[in-house]
Amino acid sequence: MLIAVAKETREGESRVAMVPELVGKLTGLGYDVAVVPGAGRHALIADEEYAEAGAGLDAEALTAADVVVSVQPLAPDAVRRLKRGAATVSFLPVNQELGLVADLRDVGATSFAMELVPRISRAQSMDALSSQALVSGYRCAIVAAGMLRRFFPLNMTAAGTVQPAEIVVLGAGVAGLQAIATCKRLGAVVKAYDVRAAAAEEIRSMGAKAIDLELDTLEGAGGYAREMTEERARLQMERLAPYIADADALITTAAVPGRQAPLLVTAAMVEAMKPGSVVVDLAAETGGNVEGSVAGEVTRIGNASVWGGKNVPSSMPGPASRLYAQNVVNLLTLLTAKPGEGEDGGMFAPDFDDEIVAGACVTHDGAIRHQPTREALEGPTEGERA
Ligand code: NAI
Repeated sequence: MLIAVAKETREGESRVAMVPELVGKLTGLGYDVAVVPGAGRHALIADEEYAEAGAGLDAEALTAADVVVSVQPLAPDAVRRLKRGAATVSFLPVNQELGLVADLRDVGATSFAMELVPRISRAQSMDALSSQALVSGYRCAIVAAGMLRRFFPLNMTAAGTVQPAEIVVLGAGVAGLQAIATCKRLGAVVKAYDVRAAAAEEIRSMGAKAIDLELDTLEGAGGYAREMTEERARLQMERLAPYIADADALITTAAVPGRQAPLLVTAAMVEAMKPGSVVVDLAAETGGNVEGSVAGEVTRIGNASVWGGKNVPSSMPGPASRLYAQNVVNLLTLLTAKPGEGEDGGMFAPDFDDEIVAGACVTHDGAIRHQPTREALEGPTEGERA
C-alpha cells in the first residue's frame, strides 16, 4: 500500500506532514512512501533527503495513494482526484470546512482529522494540537522578547542594576505554559491567569506567579475551559486591567474549543500600557483575545505594538513538521493491522471500535461519521432525533 506525502498548497503553510527521519517507520509498517517533489522545501528538507530515506518522488503521488498525509486539508481538486476509498490524514477543522467534508464523503474517502484525536492518555503521542501549541507558545515568547526594546532578565552590573521585564500571560494551556516557561528561561518576571481550576498550580510549577482574580473557575467538559458569561467577562477585564497596565509585555493564548477565542483585553486596557509595551495575541486568527489585534500584522494601539499570530507553528517549520510527522506516524501505526494479524495483517485497516480511531474519523465509505458535522451537513438521523 502507498502513503503519499502532499505538498502543501495553502498560502503561508511552510510545514510538511512527513520528515525523512520517519519514512523508515512507515516502510517498517509495510508501506511504500511517495513524496510530491518540493513538499519539504519550505521546511528546508530537500527531495534527495526523502529519497535517501527510502521514499519515492512522484508529482502524481496523491492520485495513486491509498493514504495521503498532509498538514492542511487537501485542496478540493486534490480530493476529487483521490483514488476511490483512499484515506486522508490532516488537520481538518470540520466546522470551517463543511464543503470539503462533503467532497471527502462523496469520493468515498476515509478521512481523519488530527484535531479530533481524543485527548486521552493513550492518544498523547498523536496529539498534534499539543505538539503545535508547544511550538506556538515558545515562538510567541521569543517574538515578545524580540519586539520588547529592553532586557528580559535582571542584570546586576558595575554600571548599575537592570530590572527584569514583567510579562503577563493570559491562558495557560499547552501554548501558554510553554510561553511562561520560555519567558522564565529568559529571566523575566512572569504572572499568568487562566480560568481552569488546575491552571494556578500548573502556572506555579513553571516558576510564575498565578494571578488570583477572586472569580469562580470555569471548567467545562474534558478539562477544557467554558465560555464566560458577559458579567464574568466584564469582571475579569476589570480585575486584570491593573496587571496589564503594569506589564512590559502581554502574551495571550486563551481559547475555548469549538468557539471563537474569548475577548479578554479591550483596546482601552492596551492603551493604559506603558510606552514601548508589547502585546502578542496568539489567538488573533480565531477572533483574538485582544481587541484590535490583526492576524499576521503588527498594529499600534496607544503606546503598544500589538502582534497578531497567524499560523505560528509555520514560522518554525522544521521542528513543527518533525513533531507533527511523529504524531501522524503514531496515528498511522494505530490504523495499521499488525503484520500477521488476520487477512489485513500489515495493511491500512482502521478499527472503528477503537475510541481514538472512531473519534478522529470524519468520513468513511460514503458517510460522515463525525456526528456534529453530519448534523450540520445532513441534519440529524431519525435515531439521533429520537
Ligand atoms: P486551548 O488551546 O483550548 O486553550 C488555551 C487555554 O486558554 C486553556 O488553558 C483555557 O483554560 C484558557 N482559557 C479559556 N478561556 C479563558 C479566559 N476567559 N481567560 C483565561 N484563560 C482562558 O487549551 P489547550 O492548551 O489545548 O489545553 C487545555 C487543557 O486541555 C489542558 O490543560 C488539559 O487539561 C487538556 N489537555 C489534555 C491533553 C491530553 O490529555 N492528551 C493534552 C493537552 C491538553
